[in-house]
Amino acid sequence: MSPISLVFQLLSCFIFLFSVATSQSILLPTDPLVHLSSVDPVSYNYPVIGIVSHPGDGASGRLSNATNVSYIAASYVKFVEAAGARVVPIVYNEPEETLLEKLRLVNGVLFTGGSAKTGPYFERIKKVFQIVLDRNDAGEHFPLLAICLGFELVTKAVSKDNNILERFSAQNQASILQFVDNAATNISIFQRFSPQLIEKLSTDCLAMQNHVSGISPQRLQTNDALSKFFRILTTTPDKNGKIYVSSVQAYNYPVTALQWHPEKNVFEWGVSAIPHSEDAVLVSQYVGNYFISEARKSSTRPSTKKVLDNLIYNYAPRFSGAIGRGFDEVYIFQ
Ligand SMILES: *[C@@H]1O[C@H](CO)[C@@H](O)[C@H](O)[C@H]1NC(C)=O
Ligand SMILES: *[C@@H]1O[C@H](CO)[C@@H](O)[C@H](O)[C@H]1NC(C)=O
Ligand SMILES: *[C@@H]1O[C@H](CO)[C@@H](O)[C@H](O)[C@H]1NC(C)=O
Repeated sequence: MSPISLVFQLLSCFIFLFSVATSQSILLPTDPLVHLSSVDPVSYNYPVIGIVSHPGDGASGRLSNATNVSYIAASYVKFVEAAGARVVPIVYNEPEETLLEKLRLVNGVLFTGGSAKTGPYFERIKKVFQIVLDRNDAGEHFPLLAICLGFELVTKAVSKDNNILERFSAQNQASILQFVDNAATNISIFQRFSPQLIEKLSTDCLAMQNHVSGISPQRLQTNDALSKFFRILTTTPDKNGKIYVSSVQAYNYPVTALQWHPEKNVFEWGVSAIPHSEDAVLVSQYVGNYFISEARKSSTRPSTKKVLDNLIYNYAPRFSGAIGRGFDEVYIFQ
């Protein structure tokens, strides 16, 4: 081929590509609805998660002493964001009307850790938990992930027994997770884990614990309401070898409760016991990915404007790592 014809060929090729590019750009959808209509209707890829705030400033009064202050540790928000969702804060002491309105904007709910086991906070958690169950009963797939205190309050709510919890010694301790049987490794959050990582969960301390309450497998199984509602996936020994339930999955609802903290392995640095190995980070990421995959099955399609008006991006997190009580960043509501 002569150099002249090569140049000519390249030129015509370029002109062809250019005309394809310009004609395609005319066809690009400009209306977001065009884009949405091509999306798999059973997998909603714009999920929003409601996280319920907890009383206090998350820093023992170092950030705020306002009587109505509440907070969300930013690690829960980042945990959700890293799995492909956005967060709307459900401020626990806002009027019930606001609470209901915000819950209509979300595709799933997360209950955080904390210490408030009674009072208005527990009442709000029970209310939101009932809404989660009602929405599922009405046919929507509407997941809940309840972490640490969240696990304990859901246990109280399901059993309707305010004295159901027992004392354990599991403060600031990374722990193993023991699967109750082989089938449990195949359920909910653990389904995505590789066999190697499942194996490591029972030998390496990859689950961060920080609690003094909990429930033993015996007590859960002998409580009629709890044993009908929850299947035990894992148990864990506390500092004295006393066994508590560490992961449960509801039989008939997309409700998962973990006594341990999946969010800390990636996003909290204030306590030296928190595991940060690659395996520990993978554990967090699999749990986050599982939870948001459940939220994508929700049929809620909130208005974009209302979501934007309520997103946590309307608030700025505060750095509390240097002065706080263990959280690196917190969102404050007051
Ligand atoms: C809250 O009160 C405590 C105790 O009086 C005080 O040490 C702290 O500085 C106060 N915090 C703020 C943010 O004002
Ligand atoms: C886990 O699920 C897979 C696929 O459904 C199945 O082949 C496997 O036998 C299950 N393993 C256990 C231990 O139940
Ligand atoms: C907290 O109290 C302040 C002052 O009374 C009020 O402006 C604010 O709306 C309250 N916030 C919440 C979340 O109740």
